[in-house]
Amino acid sequence: MKAGMLDPEFLIGASLADDRFKIVARVGAGSMAIVYRAFDHRLETEVVVKVPKKQKLMDDGLRERFRRESRLLVQLQHPHIVSILDVGLHGNIPFVVMQYLSGGCLSDKMQARNGQPTALPVDSLRKWLLQIAKALDFAHQRKVIHRDVKPANILFDESGNAFLSDFGLTKIMYGEPDENAADETAAGYVIGTPNFVAPEIVLGADYDGRADQYSLAISVYNTLVGTPPMLGKTPSATMVNQTRRVLPLISEVRKAVPVATAQALAKALNKKPDDRFETCEEFAEAAIAGLTTAGLTMTTPGLSPAPLPVSPPRKSVPADSSVKSKSDATSATSPKRKRPPRTDRMESIPGSSGVAINTGRVSRSKTPGVINCPQCRKEFRLRQEHAGRNGRCAQCATRLRIGADLMTLTILPERNSDASGSSGSSGTGSAEDLIIGEKVFGFKLSRNVMLGLGAVLLIIVIAALVNFFLQLSKPDLEKQEQEMRQRFQNFEVD
Ligand SMILES: Nc1ncnc2c1ncn2[C@@H]1O[C@H](COP(=O)(O)OP(=O)(O)O)[C@@H](O)[C@H]1O
Ligand SMILES: [Mg+2]
Repeated sequence: MKAGMLDPEFLIGASLADDRFKIVARVGAGSMAIVYRAFDHRLETEVVVKVPKKQKLMDDGLRERFRRESRLLVQLQHPHIVSILDVGLHGNIPFVVMQYLSGGCLSDKMQARNGQPTALPVDSLRKWLLQIAKALDFAHQRKVIHRDVKPANILFDESGNAFLSDFGLTKIMYGEPDENAADETAAGYVIGTPNFVAPEIVLGADYDGRADQYSLAISVYNTLVGTPPMLGKTPSATMVNQTRRVLPLISEVRKAVPVATAQALAKALNKKPDDRFETCEEFAEAAIAGLTTAGLTMTTPGLSPAPLPVSPPRKSVPADSSVKSKSDATSATSPKRKRPPRTDRMESIPGSSGVAINTGRVSRSKTPGVINCPQCRKEFRLRQEHAGRNGRCAQCATRLRIGADLMTLTILPERNSDASGSSGSSGTGSAEDLIIGEKVFGFKLSRNVMLGLGAVLLIIVIAALVNFFLQLSKPDLEKQEQEMRQRFQNFEVD
C-alpha cells in the first residue's frame, strides 16, 4: 500500500462523511469486503460500513464502478432489501453505509449447534423465503441482478424479518467480466460464491434474474440439508458441479420435505433458465404451498435449527443402527436423531439386478482389507479410502456397507426398500451415499464393461473355432473338387 494511503483493515475509530459515521467495531469480513459496525450521529442509530478489502483497492476500475453503481443501489429501496444509507470515499477507501441488522444471517442460524452446521426445520422457509423472493423480483424488475444470493447474504432484524444484503456489490467489487481477461481476478468476479452460483454465470452465458432464483433454490436446499449441495473438493470442482450435477429431489434426502416443495426446488434448480420459474416469487409460492398442502405448520418458533447435525466425512455406523424415519417435529424433540446424509456425495449408480438377498448379513475378516462378500463369498481387497462407504459386489452386485476398520461387510437393502423407512438413517449408509461400485473392490472396469468385454472375447473364440474347422474340412473340399474334375474329364472322353 502506497504511503499516505489508508488501510481498510484499520478503520476502528475513524469518522466518515464529515463525522456523520463513527466506526465502532469490526463485524466480520467476507470474500471481498470488511464490515464494520458504526454509529450514525445524524440518525442516532447503529449502521454498518462496508469497505473493500485491501487487494480490491488495487483495482483501478473499482472507484469508478463504485461511484456509478452505488447511486443505483441507493435507489433500491424495498422492505426486504438492506437499505443503503450513504456511499462515499474515505481517503482512498470507497465505503457503503448500510442499515444494521442485529439478527445475524441465515448461515449463522445453521451454525447454532456446537459450531457444526445444522439443517433448519422445513417450515422455517415460511419465515424468509417469500420475503427474499419478493425483494429479488423487485430488483429484477429494475434490471438489477444480485449474483451472490446465499445464506450469508440473507440477514434478519431483531423481529425475524428477512433482508437481502449486498445487492449489486459483486458488480461493484469485480466489474463486468472481460472476455479477454483469463486471469484470476476476472474468474473471481464470474464465480460470485461457487457453492451458490448459477450454471449460466459459471459458463459465461447471458443471464437474468433467474440466475438469482437458482442461487435462492440452492440456498434453500442448503438450509434444509445442512451443507451446500454442490460442494466439491475445490472451488472449481464446485463450479463444475453447478453446471453438471443434478441434485436428487430433496424429499429423497430429507423425508420431512414435502414432495411438492421438493419439486418446486427441482424446477428452480434446472440448469436451463428457461426451465425454471418465471419469477422468484412463483418459486417461493410453489415451495411454500407444498408445505401447506402437506399440512406442515410452524412447529418451531423463529428459525431455531432442528437437531440435525451433519455427519463428519466418512464416519462409519454399525449396520444395525438404522433409525426409523420420523417427521421433523418428532425429530426436533428426539435427542437420538441420527445424522442426515452427507450431501456432497450424492452421485449414485443405478441399482443392482435385485437378486434376493439376506440384508443385514455380515462377513468379517481377520486381516483389514481382505474380506469376502457375505452373499457370494468373492474375495475383495479393500483400500483405506473405501472405509465406511457403500459399494456393490462386482460378482453378485449385492449392495454392501464397508466397515470403517475394513474388517466387516454388511449386506444393505436395495435402494427401493431403503426409501420406505430409513431416511437420514445410518449417516453415510443411506441411499444418498456415493456408491462406487466395482471400483470399491479393486476393479477398474464396471460390471457392464466387463460383460461387454467377455462377450467380445467369446465372439473371437467362436470365430477362431469356426475358422479352424473350416481349415480342417478344406482338404475334403479339395478332394471332392478333384474327383468332380476327373468325372467331368471322363465324361468328355466318353
Ligand atoms: N447490514 C449488516 N448488518 C449486520 N451484519 C452484517 C451486515 N452486512 C454484513 N454483515 C455481517 O458481516 C459479515 C461479513 O459480511 P459480508 O462481507 O457481506 O460477507 P459475505 O461475503 O459472506 O456476504 C457477515 O458476518 C455478515 O453477517
Ligand atoms: Mg454479504
